[in-house]
Amino acid sequence: MDLRAFQDIVHKTRDLRRTQTLPKFSPADRDTLIRKYHPDYRERAYRPIQFGPNAGDRTVRELACLLEGESPVPADLPLTPDQTADVLVVGGGGAGCAAALHAHGKGAKVILATKLRLADSNSVMAQGGMQVAIAPDDSPVQHFLDTLKGGHLKNDHQLLKVMVEEGPTIAKWLVDLGVLFDRDADGNLQVKKGGGSSKPRLLTCSDYTGLEIMRVLKDEVLNQKIPLLEFSAAVELLSDGQGACTGAVFQDLDNKRFVLVAAKAVILATGGIGRLHIQGFPTSNHYGATGDGLALAYRMGAPLVQIDTFQYHPSGAVYPEQLVGQLVTEGIRSEGGHLVNVKGERFVNELDTRDVVSSSIILECEEGRGVRTASGREGVWLDTPLIEVEQGEGALEKHFPAMVRQYERYGVNIRKDPVLIYPTLHYQNGGVKIDVNGETPVKNLFVAGETSGGLHGRNRLMGNSLLDLMVFGKRAGLTAADRAKSMQQGTLTLAHLDQFRAEARKHGVSNQITSPMILPAYTRTPT
Ligand code: FUM
Repeated sequence: MDLRAFQDIVHKTRDLRRTQTLPKFSPADRDTLIRKYHPDYRERAYRPIQFGPNAGDRTVRELACLLEGESPVPADLPLTPDQTADVLVVGGGGAGCAAALHAHGKGAKVILATKLRLADSNSVMAQGGMQVAIAPDDSPVQHFLDTLKGGHLKNDHQLLKVMVEEGPTIAKWLVDLGVLFDRDADGNLQVKKGGGSSKPRLLTCSDYTGLEIMRVLKDEVLNQKIPLLEFSAAVELLSDGQGACTGAVFQDLDNKRFVLVAAKAVILATGGIGRLHIQGFPTSNHYGATGDGLALAYRMGAPLVQIDTFQYHPSGAVYPEQLVGQLVTEGIRSEGGHLVNVKGERFVNELDTRDVVSSSIILECEEGRGVRTASGREGVWLDTPLIEVEQGEGALEKHFPAMVRQYERYGVNIRKDPVLIYPTLHYQNGGVKIDVNGETPVKNLFVAGETSGGLHGRNRLMGNSLLDLMVFGKRAGLTAADRAKSMQQGTLTLAHLDQFRAEARKHGVSNQITSPMILPAYTRTPT
């Protein structure tokens, strides 16, 4: 059977599905389902880290190799700075821009460095929205409780409290800067519901929320004339020889030369690790999401938390081949899109938490109720036309213009045809340990956004990432700027790297990959 014949099953079963009773999962059922089918529980994909601050902890093999990897910086690199800053921000996505703007606003001399162009990031690709408790029947407490439940009660309470409480202030900041969130006919901000949330709480800009936020933040960084270092990949941190961070070494991607920036405080906001393609999964992430900040912070001695848990977003595109792994926003399920197996049945509450929905999709496929494409990929249907059936013609274009266009480019009309989806590697739940101001246990080293860990527990809720970036980007920026005011620039050494290399030798770890990876191998032009 070709895909079209399978799609017909989705159309023909639509009426029946409206009355279908969904399986009800008890907490114990959910736990069993996740443990059996979620990729986080595939034991063979994991191994212990051999040395460093998390020695003995398990993580996925791809990340363990990256953390133990070899720095490209030679031990005898001359350590004369090319530039100096009070606050050096590494990363040009949402957290980096927020950090840079707030540090600059406090009068700090900021440099914002990014390995691609300003705003090339996962932030700009965020579709579904930003969770903020602003609705009259909602509250930060409710937001806290939903997030804690979604994270399997493993979230850092202090970080979470700060995030939910500061959400409304952050939303106002963005609106004041010019972000055009969706509004109702009376001009009030509209909120939508995401998976695992008890209330509608998502501020959206159709299905390009991240693009809209980054349009404004990027403009603001440029308007404020914050000095930029683009196409400059951070490849090592600098230390004072006594454990404090004093700057970073970059590699200019054009000419491969090393560039040194001395800074009183460094903020790493380099995003996630989707492009490590853990366990062979495709990813929704941008090309630069290679976990650079994790590797840099780890070599400097910063401990990581919850690095055994990753988010596989339930709806990554499976067909057409050009879109494999790309996000099909959870917003479609929030608007009522059904997940449907090859028999035309629903099999899970589409708005359950992502780990439950992804595990259910994997279960359907493993038990032969998935749909296979000509290239051998497997998935289940997301009934996008149902939204037009329920809400009238034009509903998909109104709510999801970017998604309609993304598929149209390859001849797929999601108003008429359901789309095939399967979990895609979307987010790293854990990361570098931080306090409420984004500071790591390494003095003067801050981390913000997806590179940090603890806030989301073992499963992040939709829309909490954009808020995380803004809240902790701001806090890190303000604290780093304050810190810089009260101190002198420290000396520049690679003492931590010498120590790291000695540790690697002691543990017999050799022939390692170069770390950070900077870009996945398939993006490099053969030389
Ligand atoms: O499905 C989505 O639009 C993703 C949102 C998120 O990860 O926060």
